[in-house]
Amino acid sequence: MAKQTKLVPAARPFLKWAGGKTQLLNEFSKRLPNDLKTGKITKYIEPFIGGGAVFFYLNQRFSFKKSYICDVNEELILSYRVIQRSTKKLISELEMLESDYISKSEVKREKLFYEIRSAFNQKLPDFKFKKYNSDWIERAAQIIFLNRTCYNGLFRVNQKGEFNVPFGRYKKPEILNEDNLNDVATLLKTTKILCGDFTQCRKFVDDKTFIYFDPPYRPLNQSSSFTSYAKNGFCDKDQLRLVDFFKELDDKNAKVMLSNSDPKNENPDDSFFDDLFSDYYIERVPAKRMINCNGARRGNINELIITNYRTKKTK
Ligand SMILES: C[S@@+](CC[C@H](N)C(=O)[O-])C[C@H]1O[C@@H](n2cnc3c(N)ncnc32)[C@H](O)[C@@H]1O
Repeated sequence: MAKQTKLVPAARPFLKWAGGKTQLLNEFSKRLPNDLKTGKITKYIEPFIGGGAVFFYLNQRFSFKKSYICDVNEELILSYRVIQRSTKKLISELEMLESDYISKSEVKREKLFYEIRSAFNQKLPDFKFKKYNSDWIERAAQIIFLNRTCYNGLFRVNQKGEFNVPFGRYKKPEILNEDNLNDVATLLKTTKILCGDFTQCRKFVDDKTFIYFDPPYRPLNQSSSFTSYAKNGFCDKDQLRLVDFFKELDDKNAKVMLSNSDPKNENPDDSFFDDLFSDYYIERVPAKRMINCNGARRGNINELIITNYRTKKTK
C-alpha cells in the first residue's frame, strides 16, 4: 500500500540540480492522485529524476513498494548507484575530501577545486559508465564535491561532457552530510535506477503506478536553451515523443503528472503545450524562475502542471 506516512527516513536531494522542483512541492502536493492516498498506487516512477526533489518528497509521505528513477545523465545516475551500493565507502571518500578542503585557505581551496575538476574531466574519455567498479566511488565523491564547492552549486558540462563550472567561494560548504546519504541509501534499497531515455520505464508501468515527468524546459529561443544537464539537448521533437508516451501510459490507466514551464510566460500566443495536451487537465501555478542565462528575465512566471486525472483544483 502506498498509504502510509513517515515510514522512510527524511532523505532529501544530495545534489543541487538545475530545474530542481523544491519550490513547487506545495503546488504538486495539492494535485496528487487520490489513489495515492487510498493506497491503490504501489509504484512510483520518475523518468527525469535530476536532483529528485519530488521523489524524496513523495517517499517521505507515502511508502511505495517499489520506485523507479531514470535520467539520461550518466554522471548523475552513477552517483545514485554509488549511494545505493557503496554508501560507506562513499562517505569515507567525502570525509577525506571535506577535511582536506576545510583545513585550507581560500587560495588553496581554489587550487584543490581545479585539481579535482581536471582529474574528473581527464578520466571522462575512458570512464566505464556501463560496468560498476571501484572507480565509480571516487567519481561520485568528486561529483558531490564539485557540486557543493562550485559557483552556484550546479552540474553543468560542455559539449564534450566536461564539467565546466568555476570555483565558488563558500565559507563552510556542506560537502558531506552523512545522515542524509544514509537516508538516501535506505530509500534506494527499494528503488530501481535506470540510465537512459525516459521511455525505458515503459515496461514497469501498470494501473497501480504514479508517474511524474519533469522534462528539461522547452528552450524559448536559442540563447535561453539552458539544457546543459547532458551533452544532448531536449528539443521539440523530444517534447512530442513525451506527449505520445504520456498518452501511452494514460492508456495503461496509470496516473500521470507532468510539469513544464509555460511558454505563454514569454509569448502569450504560444499554445504549444495547451494544444498537445488538450485531452488532459492543464493548470497554471505561479513559480519563480530560478535559472536563466538572462538575469533580467528572472522573476515570477507560471509553471504548467498537466495530469490525466482530475485534481482537487480542477474539480
Ligand atoms: C528539469 S530536470 C529534472 C529536475 C528534477 N525534477 C529535480 O527536482 O531536480 C530534467 C532532467 O532530465 C534529464 N534528461 C534530459 N533528457 C532526457 C531524456 N531523453 N530521458 C531521460 N532524462 C533526460 C536531464 O539530465 C535532467 O536531469
